[in-house]
Amino acid sequence: MSLKKAIIDAFTPEGPIKMPMHNEGYVMEKPKEYKIPPVVTINHISVEFDGFKAVNDVSTAIFPHEVHFFIGPNGAGKTTMLDIICGKTKPSEGSVVFHGNPLMAGLGVNINLTEMREFEIINLGFGRKFQAPSIYKSLTIYENMELSLKGNKGVFSSLFFKATEEQKNFIDTILTNVELIDKKNEKASGLSHGQKQWLEIAMLLVQEPEVLLLDEPVAGMGKPETERTGRIIRNIAKKHAVVVVEHDMEFVRKVADTVTVMHEGKILVEGTPAECLADEKVKAVYLGRGKFHKSGI
Ligand SMILES: Nc1ncnc2c1ncn2[C@@H]1O[C@H](COP(=O)(O)OP(=O)(O)OP(=O)(O)O)[C@@H](O)[C@H]1O
Ligand SMILES: [Mg+2]
Repeated sequence: MSLKKAIIDAFTPEGPIKMPMHNEGYVMEKPKEYKIPPVVTINHISVEFDGFKAVNDVSTAIFPHEVHFFIGPNGAGKTTMLDIICGKTKPSEGSVVFHGNPLMAGLGVNINLTEMREFEIINLGFGRKFQAPSIYKSLTIYENMELSLKGNKGVFSSLFFKATEEQKNFIDTILTNVELIDKKNEKASGLSHGQKQWLEIAMLLVQEPEVLLLDEPVAGMGKPETERTGRIIRNIAKKHAVVVVEHDMEFVRKVADTVTVMHEGKILVEGTPAECLADEKVKAVYLGRGKFHKSGI
C-alpha cells in the first residue's frame, strides 16, 4: 500500500465518502482510489493571453494530504495553473472549486474560487510561495514567524502584538517541521538560500492553509538542501495538500504522489511519478532538454 493510501485510509476508517456533486461533468479517474473528496477541483480551465492559449482545457483535482506536482517544459503553463488556483490570474473558461477540508466537502460546501479576489482566496486557506523569498532579513526567524501569525496585521501593529503561549508553541512546532528550530533566535539575514526558502514555507504554514502552492521550491539548491526540502514537503503533507511546480526530475520522483505533466498548455499525462516518467509521450516532450537528461531520462 502506498504511503498516500495509508494516510487516506487512516483518515477515513468508515469507508468511502460520497463525492460531492460539483464537478460540472468532469469525470475524474483518480477519485476511485481515494476515500476522501478533493480539496480543490479544477474544471476545464483555459487561460488566454491576447489570443494565445497559455492553458488549454485543464481538469484535475488536488486531494487532502496529497503532494501534487505540475511538471513540463518551459512555457507549458505550470505557473499559470498556480496563478489560477490562487486567483492571481482569472481563466477565460472553466472553474476552480474549493471544498475545504473533508468534513466541509462531505457537507457539500463548494466555493467557486474563480469568482473570488486573490486576498479572499488566500484567507480561505491557500498559501502561495513565489520564487523570491519575502522575509524580513533584519528580524529573527521567530520574529518573522510571529509577523505571519493570523491576526497579526503587519510590522507596525506587531510592535504591540504579543503571541499567546499556544501561538508560540505552534510556531515552535512548525519551525521543528521545517528543521529551523535550532536557528529560531538568529537573524534571517544569516540564513542560507535553502533555509530562507524553508522559513518562507514556515511563514505560510503558520497561517494554517488548507493548500500550499510552491513554485520551483528547490531552484538554486544543492543536493542536500533539495533532499531536505523533499523531506519537509512530505512532512507538510501530513497536514496540508501541497501543489508543487518543479523541473528537477529526481525530486519529482522522490516527493510526488501525483504528477500532472503539462505541455503547451494541455495535460499530456497524469499519474504516479513512475507512470509519468516512464511514459513515451513525456520522454518525447523532454527529449533534448538538459534538466531531464541530468536525471537519466
Ligand atoms: N501575463 C502574461 N501575458 C502573456 N503571456 C503570458 C503571461 N504569463 C504567461 N504567459 C505565457 O504563457 C505561457 C505559459 O507560461 P507559464 O509561466 O505558465 O509557463 P511555465 O510552465 O511556468 O514555464 P517555466 O518552466 O518557464 O516557468 C508562456 O508561453 C508564457 O510566455
Ligand atoms: Mg513557471
